[in-house]
Amino acid sequence: MKRTIFYLLSLTVAFMLTSCQSNSPEGFIIDSPDGNISIEFDLNGAGVPFYVVKHGGNVAIDTSKMGFEFQKQQAIKGGFAIQSADFNEINETWEMPWGEQREVINHYKEMVVDLEEVDAPNRELKIYFRAYDDGIGFRYEFPEWEGVEELIIMDEFTEFNMTGDHTCWWIPGDWDNYEYKYNTTKISGIDAIKYLVPNSHSGRVHIVENSVNTPVTLKTEDGLYLSIHEANLTDYSGMTLKVDTANLDLVSSLVGSDRLGYKVKRALPFKTPWRTIHIADRAGDLIESNLIVNMNEPNRLGDVSWFEPMKYVGIWWEMHLGVSTWDYEITQSMNSFGGGDAGEVGHGATTENAKRYIDFAAANNIGGLLVEGWNTGWDRWAGFEDREGVFDFITPYPDYDLEEVVRYGREKGVELIMHHETSSAPRTYEQQLDTAYALMQRLGIHSVKTGYVGKIIPKGEYHHGQWMVNHYRKVLETSAKYEIAINAHEPIKGTGIRRTLPNAIAREGLRGQEYNAWSKDGSNPTEHIPIVAFTRMLSGPIDYTPGVFDLPIKQRENNSVMTTLAQQLALYVVIYGPIQMACDLPENYGDHPALQFIRDVGVDWEQTKVLDGEIGDFVTIAREERETGNWFVGSATDENGREITITFDFLEEGKTYQAAIYKDGADAHWDDNPQSLDIEKIEITKGQEMTFQLAPGGGLAISLMQ
Ligand code: NOJ
Ligand code: CA
Repeated sequence: MKRTIFYLLSLTVAFMLTSCQSNSPEGFIIDSPDGNISIEFDLNGAGVPFYVVKHGGNVAIDTSKMGFEFQKQQAIKGGFAIQSADFNEINETWEMPWGEQREVINHYKEMVVDLEEVDAPNRELKIYFRAYDDGIGFRYEFPEWEGVEELIIMDEFTEFNMTGDHTCWWIPGDWDNYEYKYNTTKISGIDAIKYLVPNSHSGRVHIVENSVNTPVTLKTEDGLYLSIHEANLTDYSGMTLKVDTANLDLVSSLVGSDRLGYKVKRALPFKTPWRTIHIADRAGDLIESNLIVNMNEPNRLGDVSWFEPMKYVGIWWEMHLGVSTWDYEITQSMNSFGGGDAGEVGHGATTENAKRYIDFAAANNIGGLLVEGWNTGWDRWAGFEDREGVFDFITPYPDYDLEEVVRYGREKGVELIMHHETSSAPRTYEQQLDTAYALMQRLGIHSVKTGYVGKIIPKGEYHHGQWMVNHYRKVLETSAKYEIAINAHEPIKGTGIRRTLPNAIAREGLRGQEYNAWSKDGSNPTEHIPIVAFTRMLSGPIDYTPGVFDLPIKQRENNSVMTTLAQQLALYVVIYGPIQMACDLPENYGDHPALQFIRDVGVDWEQTKVLDGEIGDFVTIAREERETGNWFVGSATDENGREITITFDFLEEGKTYQAAIYKDGADAHWDDNPQSLDIEKIEITKGQEMTFQLAPGGGLAISLMQ
């Protein structure tokens, strides 16, 4: 269905719309397919564009203005008239090659408004609005402007004007880093500036104002959940949100380039990323939403069956524990992660050690092995000013026989996962992309973990600016040609590009498990996962590296993992990623009975149901594995122990499931008894109801096999 309406004068718009477009006295309106969410668009008396979002008839986002500031042209602030509006409805279903679910319904109503300045230079601007049942999105299109080939944007001013002083789960709007503990405050209490004290091991802290990174999630007094983010971040810079604590207004503030002196440079015409708002009555609906992927283009890579979702082990946690090192020369990399003394530890990535991990993986239904520290350059990575030209992504250290490890892995059915730590010297990496990926292709390696520790070289560029957004994209596009998938650490945030380029399999972009091994700023708090699930996870798959069994960590007396063993298992279900690490050392798994859950748990899902949860308190998720029809349940709680009830109404009628329940022991506690775990085996059928006790920092993991 498509309709177009033309208007000559904006002043007539409101009146005409009343009669022919909507039952509202104001502006242009579209409703979500279920009618519950609406977006109203109009111009104010000064011709300034604004929008209002309603949910169930109540204002969810209040009058919010839109504007831009440029380097060479006058700002876009107002003086517009509406030329026309197009209305459209799309209802399609698409399939994820791997994901939280197989089929995704993409059903929305769209409105495209065409604006033109009343006075010279009479510039045009188009705004696309989409209303979904689970939220909304809008994006700007800059069409051709006479005499303007290239537009330099100094900032974008898109408002998200809140209706009250909502509770907000936020991390600071750092231009370089998303690896923070979440804060829970009212909007009026957001104080991101406090992070200006340098506190990062990698020095990646660049905060210019009181702003937050997205996704940022909020809850109103009436119990409505909102989360603001962006979709399809392409050739543009990442959006942070500047917080006006007095007016309870969040305003887009783009990541800039100090080197180039602007935020974004684009040739006309172009479209900006979508600005998105998840809207939900139930916290769990935020997680079930497909808003972000739906606002991206369909799969451009076609058949991607060369990558298969998998669990993996790695020569990795041992470096974070200081048991071994990345660098062969055993010099500085230990220092940054606080390892033992030189002489006590050796190089981790040896052929022999890799084979030991491969044997463990092969014996435990684990398909991949990540090896970090295999290539030359680690003696001069983090902490060095001059990192250009240091890392080599082709040359192994002398004690690591890459070809032999690949051969041995293949014999045992374990595929190698490549590792490329760029140390934030992207130009050095770009020079080697083709040769590095050609080597991987020759060896039959289909995925690589990339890393961007440290300040970006050249100076004045930031991880989340346009220049780096384009670098991360180039990596995805180049690797796709070699049938290689990317798991980026220190990445640009996920914005649903994985729909278009499914080789964007996972990323970090949060305070990962590794902080529990060495952070001087404390471990990930007990509430971390119950917040992450409703914030960071809305942007896409996470490489969180679960599975620490050695609790508390014997090498690290001053650090702790603030979860029980049951919660470590629960993470395989709670956190979504098509690659899931079993991060601990083989000797720490031994023949622990809980290892059976890691052997059994799926990594690729037919469907996902968020059974229950509250942000910062707890979350319970059930996922059905593709092909097998087995179900897995994971639940994680914060510092409070709690009782949860699960109704197994998601199971298939008439089937009996062999359930293995991994639950906190009666005396379990993350702090003094994290290992206390009871394993119970029973049969479960559809509709059964069971109650479970979660310990402080605890969890629950259930496998339901047919
Ligand atoms: C930081 C990553 O998050 C971590 O997983 C990796 O081991 C180090 N960088 C080294 O690349
Ligand atoms: Ca990291």
